[in-house]
Amino acid sequence: MKIAIIGQGYVGLTISAFAAEHFEVFGFDSNKQIVDYLNVGISHIEGVESSTIKKWRKKGSYRATSKGSDIRECEIVIIAVPTPLASDRKPDLSYIESACKTIGQNISNSALVINESTSFPGTLRNFIKPTIEKYSSKSIEHLYAISPERVDPGRGDFNQKNTPRLYAGLTPEASEKTRNFYSKFCDELVEVSSPEVAEAAKLFENTFRQVNIALVNEFAQIAHALGISVYETLEAANTKPYGFMKFTPSAGVGGHCIPVDPTYLAAIAEEHGAPATFIRRANQVNLEMSEYIVRRVAEDNGGNLQGRSALVVGVAYKPNVADVRETAAELVIQHLRNLGAVVSWHDEVVGSWKGESSAPLQGADITIVVTKHDSVDEKKILASAPYVFDTTGKVKGAKGL
Ligand SMILES: NC(=O)c1ccc[n+]([C@@H]2O[C@H](COP(=O)([O-])OP(=O)(O)OC[C@H]3O[C@@H](n4cnc5c(N)ncnc54)[C@H](O)[C@@H]3O)[C@@H](O)[C@H]2O)c1
Repeated sequence: MKIAIIGQGYVGLTISAFAAEHFEVFGFDSNKQIVDYLNVGISHIEGVESSTIKKWRKKGSYRATSKGSDIRECEIVIIAVPTPLASDRKPDLSYIESACKTIGQNISNSALVINESTSFPGTLRNFIKPTIEKYSSKSIEHLYAISPERVDPGRGDFNQKNTPRLYAGLTPEASEKTRNFYSKFCDELVEVSSPEVAEAAKLFENTFRQVNIALVNEFAQIAHALGISVYETLEAANTKPYGFMKFTPSAGVGGHCIPVDPTYLAAIAEEHGAPATFIRRANQVNLEMSEYIVRRVAEDNGGNLQGRSALVVGVAYKPNVADVRETAAELVIQHLRNLGAVVSWHDEVVGSWKGESSAPLQGADITIVVTKHDSVDEKKILASAPYVFDTTGKVKGAKGL
């Protein structure tokens, strides 16, 4: 069976790498450079080895493409394109729209379209289906299903195979085909009663994390004000064997999911007149953490950062990946610069970012650790400046939350 996966980023390439063991996969991406790299067997995504892509290229079960006409031969078309926030912080479905246009113009009869991109309940039924139908032949009935992606790029213990996968079709036939497809490479499939439930579950999973991260970030500020250790308190609370789940404080949340998905939920809630108070407030608390941290650093340094050299360690949004989307480091750097600090950053996993390159891990007045990759030596961090503030709780001997 031939399948097309629209979008060869974190989600699309990861799923391609698993699917290519069983199917002939067309990895469709509008970025020609990504397509060219993938076709010579170079992966740009953590967790997908170049050797895997080379293996499938050699076997002939994977080919990257930018040609919409390749979709014509496919029985299943998967959507895995970005769903970011627009500049007004409202859901931006423009990537899905453009993917649907390509699909609509090229889809074969009775093909199944599965959406893996994260979006609010109703996206499959009220946006994806009508948009594809706008561009395809009206007389042909296509099948539609949702299976929200739960992949955590770079994570070793949970992957496509052992992470239970939610799914639902718009029709029983779509559900059955979806199940047959994923059962080839997923151990556990969980069917829910409607696509809207699957879409909402995905948003709620990440909203749960966002709210709990905000709670622990607020608690870190309370603990500091009370003169107690937030980390010791969390360890103590975590000895309770039920009813507690440990989250740890940080400079904020980053990536494509936690800062974004809850806003999709809040937007659809408010559109329907339902409250999204916790979600909106949690987002605010997480965004304000960077300012709180810089304020603490300034207080520890005589209240004045003017002209001081500040080194931010780790600008990726989480350890061991090069992904800088929505990274909290950006706000930390901005607040430091607002106070007159001369800021550089060190992150050899990211390398270059916003026209700047990773600086050496040495010679600063102040070091602030935002993300600690495993490869970064703790001793070198401590030696990089006379004052080191660690937001991760991983650098022993540094000041911290
Ligand atoms: N990254 C994650 O950890 C993660 C986890 C679960 C769910 N998701 C969701 O999955 C979706 C995809 O996220 P991602 O992280 O893989 O994004 P990404 O930015 O890594 O990759 C998206 C790819 O789609 C391509 N693209 C954009 N528009 C296109 C179009 N019209 N046609 C073809 N290709 C197009 C881009 O060039 C890019 O390579 C989002 O909805 C995201 O919320 C992401």
